[in-house]
Amino acid sequence: MARKIALITGGGDCPGINAFLASAVRRGNREYGTEFIGVRNAFAGLAADNLDNHLLSLDTEKVIGLENRSSTILESSRFNPFTIENEAIGYPEKILANLKRIGVDGILGTGGNDTILSAMRLEKRGFPTVMAPKSIDNDVSGTDVMLGFRTAIFFGAQAARSTADSARAHRRISLVEVMGRHAGWLALEIGVASGADLITIPERPVNLGEFCTEVGRLYSDRQYVNLVVAEGTSIACSDPVILRAQKESDVVRSLMEETPELDTFGNPKLGGISQILRRVLRIELGLKKIEEIRTTDLGFTLRGLAPAADDIILGIRFGIRAADILLGEKRSGVMVGIHGLEIGEVPYEQALIPKTVNRSDRELQALGVFISSGCVNQM
Ligand code: F6P
Repeated sequence: MARKIALITGGGDCPGINAFLASAVRRGNREYGTEFIGVRNAFAGLAADNLDNHLLSLDTEKVIGLENRSSTILESSRFNPFTIENEAIGYPEKILANLKRIGVDGILGTGGNDTILSAMRLEKRGFPTVMAPKSIDNDVSGTDVMLGFRTAIFFGAQAARSTADSARAHRRISLVEVMGRHAGWLALEIGVASGADLITIPERPVNLGEFCTEVGRLYSDRQYVNLVVAEGTSIACSDPVILRAQKESDVVRSLMEETPELDTFGNPKLGGISQILRRVLRIELGLKKIEEIRTTDLGFTLRGLAPAADDIILGIRFGIRAADILLGEKRSGVMVGIHGLEIGEVPYEQALIPKTVNRSDRELQALGVFISSGCVNQM
């Protein structure tokens, strides 16, 4: 008997998600006669009282041309039905009842670590799911690359380089901030591809005194510097340079005192490091005008891009494989992934191991990553 499958797209949006949806629907319709129902807003939609308002029927006809559209037509949420509070309210049972009521017996979807964690918990309650990894952070294991990452690098590198080219013409310091949460992949690859002089990543804490000295040396040598910094760059609150900056700048003081809000998975809302570093550098380098440092926060521009070819192809390949596993092989509880040129799969537990930048200091320094003297290990 043909199956009816729900499609969800949870967590931060990114390029390539719609290619996955289009491909899974085409594969399921054509090979398995499957009916698909999209559920808007991922687990928030699945748990909604008015679930029917979140439903979007999808078939081969309706997904024509969908693969190269930005973001996700199924919208998204970071709703976590498995927090202690939400489990006590009964959200997991409500989701299972909703799925049963609409006659769905499996889920195909895209997610980062948090959405995959929720899919794993639903799987452990006996509901079949297969997920594809997506995030510009590229921070889950079990795949060489996540959907969205390659497009974000391609565009982010162009944006960072154009900012730096303008800074050079005006003898300025260019300071570009990118997302990535607690993984530095985005900053590392955008930095290298845009010719950054210095790159900061969360995996290598920054000694601000040393950092400012290095930036000052570059600036006095060439009258411009190209910096790319990860939003998760870590600075010690006790760093004497930041303590000095907090005394001299209201902006630095308020940003450092700001308590980041947490999402329902406990992730802090990051962002703003470039505004702190801009003022720190002005103070430490004794710059006359803050305009000598131009900041650009690429932020969400990297999330809402239309997918480049790499991510259209990856989304399509992920969609085919995910549909074959769930519908053809009748297996579940796994995340599809790419290893070299091959599409494979890993159990959720393996996928959820965080994947932060694991390159050697030697290579990272050669690529321009700033590593404070206290942190260099001779790998
Ligand atoms: O996980 C992707 C990501 O863009 C992170 O890089 C960033 O820190 C976070 O999402 C922002 O979360 P939100 O979209 O909820 O503001």
